Amino acid sequence: MDPVPTGASGPVGGRGAGAMIEAESGPTVERRMDEASGNIVKSGVPAVSPNLADYALSCRLFDWRQATSELAGLPGGGVNIAHEAVDRHVLEGRGEHIALRCVPPSGAVVTLSYTRLAALSNRFANGLHRLGVRAGDRVFTLLGRCPELYVAVLGTLKNKSVLCPLFSAFGPDPVVQRMTLGDARVLVTTQALYQRKIADRRAGLPGLEHVVIVGPSTADLPGTVRWDDLMEAASEEFTIPATDPEDPALLHFTSGTTGRPKGAVHVHGAVAAHRVTAEYALDLHPDDVYWCTADPGWVTGMSYGVIAPLAAGVTVVVDEGEFDAARWYRVLESEHVTVWYTAPTAIRMLMRATPRTGPFDLPRSHDLSALRFIASVGEPLNPEAVRWGADVLGLPIHDNYWQTETGCIVIANLAACDIRPGSMGRPLPGFQAEVLAADEQGRPVRDGAGRVRPVTDPAGQGVLALRPGWPSMFRGYLDDEERYRSAFVDGWYVTGDLVRRDSDGYLWFVGRADDVIKSAGHLIGPFEVESALMEHPAVAEAGVIGRPDPVAGTVVKAFVSLRPGFDPGPELCTDILAFARRKLGPAVAPREVAFDQNLPKTRSGKVMRRLLRAREQGLPEGDTSTLESGSA
Ligand code: WT7
Repeated sequence: MDPVPTGASGPVGGRGAGAMIEAESGPTVERRMDEASGNIVKSGVPAVSPNLADYALSCRLFDWRQATSELAGLPGGGVNIAHEAVDRHVLEGRGEHIALRCVPPSGAVVTLSYTRLAALSNRFANGLHRLGVRAGDRVFTLLGRCPELYVAVLGTLKNKSVLCPLFSAFGPDPVVQRMTLGDARVLVTTQALYQRKIADRRAGLPGLEHVVIVGPSTADLPGTVRWDDLMEAASEEFTIPATDPEDPALLHFTSGTTGRPKGAVHVHGAVAAHRVTAEYALDLHPDDVYWCTADPGWVTGMSYGVIAPLAAGVTVVVDEGEFDAARWYRVLESEHVTVWYTAPTAIRMLMRATPRTGPFDLPRSHDLSALRFIASVGEPLNPEAVRWGADVLGLPIHDNYWQTETGCIVIANLAACDIRPGSMGRPLPGFQAEVLAADEQGRPVRDGAGRVRPVTDPAGQGVLALRPGWPSMFRGYLDDEERYRSAFVDGWYVTGDLVRRDSDGYLWFVGRADDVIKSAGHLIGPFEVESALMEHPAVAEAGVIGRPDPVAGTVVKAFVSLRPGFDPGPELCTDILAFARRKLGPAVAPREVAFDQNLPKTRSGKVMRRLLRAREQGLPEGDTSTLESGSA
């Protein structure tokens, strides 16, 4: 790659290779499509991110110890995420900078400066402390995108309690299961969510001592405390206790193919990775106005909607409403968003609402001139979407890749590098990635000498593996050492994603090796859905797969066999769908149910989702040697 001229040195610059490259100011970035390759070639200066001026050199020189040493650190020593995200900026004299701009669907925008956010999170930390909540205790949030969520997150981290965010569109089953597994001591939620999802199951959560109700609480809810009461009684002064970078900070539940959800444990030291990757992959710098559309109930919305941008000292736009193309363009315009992090499903929905041509020329009727960088994550981003961005929004979209387990972006079409539409990009400096030869299940295979081996043919695919060693790598699955250990092979962390690597090192997503479903960017465990379906009185067995969908990527589809005496008609279908939605919530429940009295099963009696998927898509069924019943 041609070295890209360096730009003005960003305030978080000066690490690794960047320290060796003279910063200078230069022309603004130009992007054009290379006719032959279809790649989006950048020339001139990436507005910021001088540290990546030479990708190969940056990769060679990058050092996580140095990146970590550039954190502010607690006055008494150690690293605490909330200190890096909030208090640091106040101490550095940027306290009046706006940290949050919360934009409700209608009504006034609520802004919080870093100083105010520091004071409010101190109050919440004191409030928790007064309730007797201590270091290591688990504090769960079940909230929409409201200012209180940010305060609760940061206050919990200041108190050294472990934060576990839940998605507000989860139904009662996923909520209660995760709270049980995670041993929830505190829950912060609203009256409506509490009444709908928790209240009548609270007896089953004996460890849940405190429920904090945000917003108006009109009903008499025994065993709860009002947010306002807790906050009013608490002081604005709080000293963060000494925090070791290895102290646990966050618990993020993620889904596997089988069994219960996995609680990935992350530590305070992770914030070093958030800071670096926010700069390299999102081009984030303190003057930016940044909008991450992911919900903080999921790992993207927490890591890159709360922690990373605040650690970078930017202004974070919090959109409290649901997707609506017209409103989204309005938010981009009226908030003067400069950096935007969103997801393929959202982009595809915008593409539908805003074709390249036609009378309804939304983005052109808005002034999006402040916008200078767009990134996307979570599921494959169609090359078409990258080009649509370039044509319609005037900026190509930078795809990047990571997982709950990695804790931060690891692969990206970097801010400073050319974009290959359809590719996830290249490993960020500080990451060693390999494509390992793998079997059908995505497990690395060993050669004659018993070693795993890389795929060298650019046309060949294998499983993406990463060499651990960066600060935000998960430290374990909660209470499941066995599963944690099995995620590693010969010192590689195995992602379970099948990829291809071209001769320039760009990685191309091929598919997941396991049965896990990605719908609208959300990871869904088929087992969790099947278990809920089987509680319906009519359902004998269930197999759940992802069915390709032009907007959501995939949607959840269930195949069920019925118990004797039930009629497989449309009424039962509607009833099962509604049942699943009540239990699982709209984010997880199937969109479609098909009846099949002859589900394909292995000899050991497991429903073969792989065959259901192949049949659904009219693909060859592959190896059916273990098929016991349900053959076509
Ligand atoms: C899985 C991780 C989005 C990160 C946080 C959510 C899929 C992620 C891409 C991409 C194709 C992607 C993978 C991965 N994925 N980014 N750019 N292209 N697929 O983390 O919920 O743990 O999901 O999302 O399958 O393993 P997660």
